Amino acid sequence: MPLITAVYGSPRYKGNTAALLKKAVQGARDAGARVDEVFLRDLKISPCLEIYGCKKTGRCVIQDDFQGLVDRLLASRGLMLASPVFFYTVSAHTKILMDRCQSLWVKKYWIEKVAFGQWKPVRKGLFISAGATGGKKLFDGMLLSIKYFFDVLDMELWRALLYRRLDFEGDVLKYPEYLDEAHQAGKEFANTLLK
Ligand SMILES: Cc1cc2nc3c(=O)[nH]c(=O)nc-3n(C[C@H](O)[C@H](O)[C@H](O)COP(=O)(O)O)c2cc1C
Repeated sequence: MPLITAVYGSPRYKGNTAALLKKAVQGARDAGARVDEVFLRDLKISPCLEIYGCKKTGRCVIQDDFQGLVDRLLASRGLMLASPVFFYTVSAHTKILMDRCQSLWVKKYWIEKVAFGQWKPVRKGLFISAGATGGKKLFDGMLLSIKYFFDVLDMELWRALLYRRLDFEGDVLKYPEYLDEAHQAGKEFANTLLK
């Protein structure tokens, strides 16, 4: 099983967040971690249908690529997740993954009756995002979504790398310092998990 799963949440294979996440993956591998990469746009994952088939076992009953992915996420000690800002939150691909993890929320809070806030982090997450504009609140919406998504994975947010004023594919390549920061973060993330 991999130590880290890297999830690409942008529809663009070679977009800004993908380039940053690639660097983080490289950094983690340089530190000796096994990293699996998943492009959400390659998977067939239905949105949550709100049928609560997960109520009995905590497992989502929709049979699609989410099943394999959630097992990989739960088997990893670290998640590197990258999503662009779309309408002040995560991309639709990322949001669909989050919504399907409502099954984990049901397992944790309805079936196992964990008290809110009374859990120990067993995983760590590195989150990467980029948006076109430069506003102070650009990442506020998505960070709230990330907080509660990571909660169901018993995951603490280890670090968030957030970049403003990146719009067109390849824009990030004009900022080698951003790519270096992502590479370094990947390395440090792996070292923290390998401790
Ligand atoms: C559907 C859509 C919605 C977007 N919404 C926002 C937004 O709310 N705020 C913003 O600053 N940029 C927004 N953008 C721009 C992207 O965040 C930006 O181009 C980003 O660099 C894309 O990252 P990627 O190359 O990894 O996909 C949007 C782009 C698209 C396609």
